[in-house]
Amino acid sequence: MVRPCEPAGDGTAGSHFYNGAMAPTLPSLAFLGAGSMGGAILRGVVASGVPVRGGIRATNRTVGKAGELAALPGVESIALEANPRGNADAAAQADVVFVGVKPAMVEDLLREIAPVLRAEAVVVSLAAGVTISRMEAALGAGVRVVRSMPNTPASVGKAVTGLAAGSAATTEDIATVRRVFETVGAVVEVAETQIDALSTISGSGPAYVFLLIEQLTAAAREKGFGEADARLLAEQTFVGAAALLETSGENPAELRRQVTSPGGTTERAIAVLQEAELDALFIRATDAALARAREL
Ligand SMILES: NC(=O)c1ccc[n+]([C@@H]2O[C@H](COP(=O)([O-])OP(=O)(O)OC[C@H]3O[C@@H](n4cnc5c(N)ncnc54)[C@H](OP(=O)(O)O)[C@@H]3O)[C@@H](O)[C@H]2O)c1
Repeated sequence: MVRPCEPAGDGTAGSHFYNGAMAPTLPSLAFLGAGSMGGAILRGVVASGVPVRGGIRATNRTVGKAGELAALPGVESIALEANPRGNADAAAQADVVFVGVKPAMVEDLLREIAPVLRAEAVVVSLAAGVTISRMEAALGAGVRVVRSMPNTPASVGKAVTGLAAGSAATTEDIATVRRVFETVGAVVEVAETQIDALSTISGSGPAYVFLLIEQLTAAAREKGFGEADARLLAEQTFVGAAALLETSGENPAELRRQVTSPGGTTERAIAVLQEAELDALFIRATDAALARAREL
């Protein structure tokens, strides 16, 4: 599946740099269900500038949603309202097919596209809770499958995506799928048994961070700041701390120590937060998410 790195238009091999590495071309792609998550990955691929041989096709149900993607360069955006065979048409022309519809719709969609898939196509699900065995059962024996778990910072190129290979997927298939997800952030390969656990950390994780921001904002309001200042103080503190973490290369405990003078004000606040047994609280929260994933 991995195509050789072909000369770019300027005659140099490879042509594009991203994430610090030479980026070879990507094979033809289909995004079936290009909403929040599928659309974020699609936009990441387009923004990366990595050439896609054979083009990109994206499907959505409504003409309105398809219209939002129509201006993306190199993307054929299809509305099922206008072309009911759009999913099959897009899948038939793709080497890698991303399935970005809601989990309850995934298996029907896989059964629809199974007869038209290319022999070496890789089908990548973005759906929470749909197992590889269910995907393989819907697609038929021997179809190459990858299960993924991205997160919403994909829309700003800051995702963490977990990948788990199906029984027929090759090392090269995973490498190709990894390259697509690396256009929107970092990638971790795990066994499928770890995907639900990964989801409780990075899939749901942005919600935990936003909750903490909301709570710090509420504390600022309680201290007498107006809404705009409270939001600015809390939100920019998270943005700044995350940027410092990323650019410094230090671990969070060391960065925390640098703000926490012995006997000072921050130390008092941290002590109160630790009294709430945050470590146990996060384990309980992620355990609850894991239990729910197993119910679904
Ligand atoms: N959002 C997240 O944080 C997140 C994180 C990890 C994984 N995921 C997974 O990503 C998947 C999509 O979630 P989402 O949040 O992106 O939902 P979404 O924004 O509702 O996107 C789903 C898209 O599918 C389109 N669609 C509906 N029926 C279709 C069909 N039969 N064929 C092709 N397209 C169809 C919809 O188009 P219309 O709007 O025109 O109906 C919509 O744009 C889910 O399986 C979810 O588990 C989401």
